[in-house]
Amino acid sequence: MKRKVHATAALLALLFLTAFWISTVIAELFLSETAVAQVKHGIAYALLGFIPVMIATGASGFAMGGKSMQPLIAAKRRRMPFIGGIGLLILAPAAIFLSMRAQAGLFDSIFYGVQALELVAGAVNVALISLNFRDGLRLRYRKHLPGQ
Ligand code: HEM
Repeated sequence: MKRKVHATAALLALLFLTAFWISTVIAELFLSETAVAQVKHGIAYALLGFIPVMIATGASGFAMGGKSMQPLIAAKRRRMPFIGGIGLLILAPAAIFLSMRAQAGLFDSIFYGVQALELVAGAVNVALISLNFRDGLRLRYRKHLPGQ
């Protein structure tokens, strides 16, 4: 049960974050300011789904991993403070700030500075979450290898 919750939440977390990143880049590069504002608004609301999914991923992971010192589990555990810190201290506040700024039509240098920071921080988090995903799959399938 815990494993199913973990696998589903992990997949959703990765999909959410990738969708935020790709929709932001596409809107910024190819679409109008109105579309950018709509995308920013959508992302700010989608945090209501993303944050619980991240909490479920971490909580189920920590519950399954326990105190294990298995290197893959230890590596996953070590990445979590960075994933959570970037999410809570940069990505969530940036998403809300950018949405408010875009609704007000303020596409100034502050908007683009925060937007650039959000894209870099988002890319780092996609990379860290992908590493945790990869190590999760290794843990899962290693158990089915002969002699393990
Ligand atoms: C962003 C965070 C994380 C992601 C994206 C992630 C992703 C995954 C994925 C995709 C699996 C394979 C699930 C399956 O197909 O059955 C998995 C398994 C696992 N994860 Fe995570 N994980 C995360 C955080 C953690 C944390 C923090 C821990 C513990 C410290 C953890 C411990 C485990 C364990 C023990 C398994 C193996 C389950 C089993 O097959 O018995 N995960 N994880």
